[in-house]
Amino acid sequence: MASPKRKLSDEEAEIRALRETIEQHNYAYYVLDEPTVPDAEYDRLMRRLNQLEQRHPDLITPDSPTQRVGAAPIAEFGEVIHTQPMLSLDNAFSEEELRDFDRRVQERLKSANIDAGGAVEYAAEPKLDGTAVSVRYENGVLSLAATRGDGYTGEDITHNIRTIKGVPLRLRSDAPPVVEARGEVFMPKAGFEAYNERARQRGEKEFVNPRNAAAGSLRQLDPRLTAERPLDVFFYSIGDLQGLDLPATQSETLAWLRAWGLKTCPQSEVVAGILGCLAYYASIGEQRNGLPYEIDGVVYKVNRLDWQAQLGFVSRAPRWALAHKFPAQEELTVVRAVEFQVGRTGALTPVARLEPVFVGGVTVSNATLHNMDELARKDVRVGDTVFVRRAGDVIPEVVKIVPERRKKGARRVKLPNKCPVCGSDVVRPDGEAVARCAGGLFCAAQRKEALRHFASRRAMDIEGLGTKVIDQLVEGDLVRNASELYQLEQAQLAKLERMAEKSAAKLLASLERSKNTTLARFLFALGIREVGEATAGSLANHFGSLDSLMGATSEALEEVPDVGPVVAANLRAFFAEEHNRAVIKALVANGVNWPETTSDPLAGGPLAGKTVVLTGTLTAMTRDEAKDRLAALGAKVSGTVSRKTDFVVVGEKPGSKAVKARELGIDVLSEADFLLWVSNLELS
Ligand code: IVH
Repeated sequence: MASPKRKLSDEEAEIRALRETIEQHNYAYYVLDEPTVPDAEYDRLMRRLNQLEQRHPDLITPDSPTQRVGAAPIAEFGEVIHTQPMLSLDNAFSEEELRDFDRRVQERLKSANIDAGGAVEYAAEPKLDGTAVSVRYENGVLSLAATRGDGYTGEDITHNIRTIKGVPLRLRSDAPPVVEARGEVFMPKAGFEAYNERARQRGEKEFVNPRNAAAGSLRQLDPRLTAERPLDVFFYSIGDLQGLDLPATQSETLAWLRAWGLKTCPQSEVVAGILGCLAYYASIGEQRNGLPYEIDGVVYKVNRLDWQAQLGFVSRAPRWALAHKFPAQEELTVVRAVEFQVGRTGALTPVARLEPVFVGGVTVSNATLHNMDELARKDVRVGDTVFVRRAGDVIPEVVKIVPERRKKGARRVKLPNKCPVCGSDVVRPDGEAVARCAGGLFCAAQRKEALRHFASRRAMDIEGLGTKVIDQLVEGDLVRNASELYQLEQAQLAKLERMAEKSAAKLLASLERSKNTTLARFLFALGIREVGEATAGSLANHFGSLDSLMGATSEALEEVPDVGPVVAANLRAFFAEEHNRAVIKALVANGVNWPETTSDPLAGGPLAGKTVVLTGTLTAMTRDEAKDRLAALGAKVSGTVSRKTDFVVVGEKPGSKAVKARELGIDVLSEADFLLWVSNLELS
């Protein structure tokens, strides 16, 4: 007969085993970035552990994976005196300043009789744009966490740090009796965007940038609030350490941290001398936009810790480390005027004309304000001082105004009631953010954009028909719609600015060439609202001929994958328009043609009949871009992995789909392999 006691020890053993398994999975997921079980299985383990702990509350320990969010909010932050100061870093903004730093390091080492042997070895790491923390583990268990504060005294944020899933509550087995891990807590870009999106929808306050988001989230009295924030962490140094000597180098420090189960930045590297530093700076600069977290530069640290000790520090910054900053992505400037640009679909976009300002590595004098709702929400007025942001090749944007700097008489911006280009009425349907010029193709701005789109590479691919040429063709009233492009004559073209006989002949030749196209490209080129490349491909595939597409009912249209009621309505409206039918007819009369039915290269494509699933975060492109590219090759992109799936592409932090794919024996591609594969197919 099983005694109650015996039952308890069984369940106690199960609790222990569960905790160990869960910790193992956490380590694989957060530190190694290689999930070992599907989310559902993980959730099951957690539920079982919770259940057992509820049955035996006396067995709950603070380091149990169930105990991340402590019960009660705290009344105020306690003070933590750092056992070793948390230093700051000196900044360099130019190559010259970096060279000065390296020279000083070499000189000091030399005067300490250290031979660096030519080039000093540096540990190079991204400079994470978050907030510094120190996390103490005693006998492997998280015991205290603190902010940097003034470098000597910080605030006790243990209750909040515990909620960050990337911070282990218990270190892996071989951890020393006491170790203080130092690093940066940050909010990954995706989490930041999603958080702000939700805040916007709820009318709550948004975070200005991921750094404020991280710092603000850690300064919550109620850990339940912090637990809702998508925070992450990378550790980069060791503070207090007992029962063990420090490693020899910074790179080893990172390896030790990782071995104990603490996350470190995967982009860290050891480089040699100034050239290594510069190459690293350039490489991280290129990767910057694709990284899942925000950085504002890179950090170089003399790799050997004994040399670091020799070099010491001045006031608050070590002599052995340097932050090499990227050009700021946000700057202040003044709005001189707000004007409206008219796009292909007639959408009026308010654009701020700015006092030129150097931001994100270029001089910016225009920034988008997106639409009237955005403009109203940000309350941007002419004369306001604003934050302008430009990240990489992203369009510069007005982030927010500086209310304190608003001058009297700052002018509100009104939506014009006439199109600034063609004078037609501007309409803005109730509840829509976008205002549009009602002029349609009568509006020169819309005509230009429509032609630009028609000629673009993924549409009719008319080489030599660039913006400058289109502007002249429209302004000179030589071309009123796409079909008239095919009636242009050499003499007309040769008269245009920057067009000689030769380039005119070339353009005519590429116009001629573009006539042989595919139905998918043709549909895409028409510029029907919300009919992108992928949808155009599906439509061509499904209907096979333009006539059957043009005659299709809404129901028939909605049978096509990724065509919903909105796209169906757009298609019907487009084809119902007499003018559009006339242009299509004229295009065909002018020789534009495609093979009817089947074997349409764009709709068919090398991946026709293949089903691909994307999972995790892609770094080199957005998910939509990946989908478009796959669709353009003929593949079907699905959201669920099944036996019908041909390939699964796995980005960062993949979920259960990757696991399922492996279980089903489906080919799994990394993002890098995927890119290579797709580019090759696109070229072939
Ligand atoms: S090392 C003595 N490494 O930058 C070295 N700091 O400007 C002190 N930071 O307070 C820090 N990424 O919050 C180091 N890879 C990195 C870092 C980093 C971001 C922050 C940290 C520090 C601040 C100093």
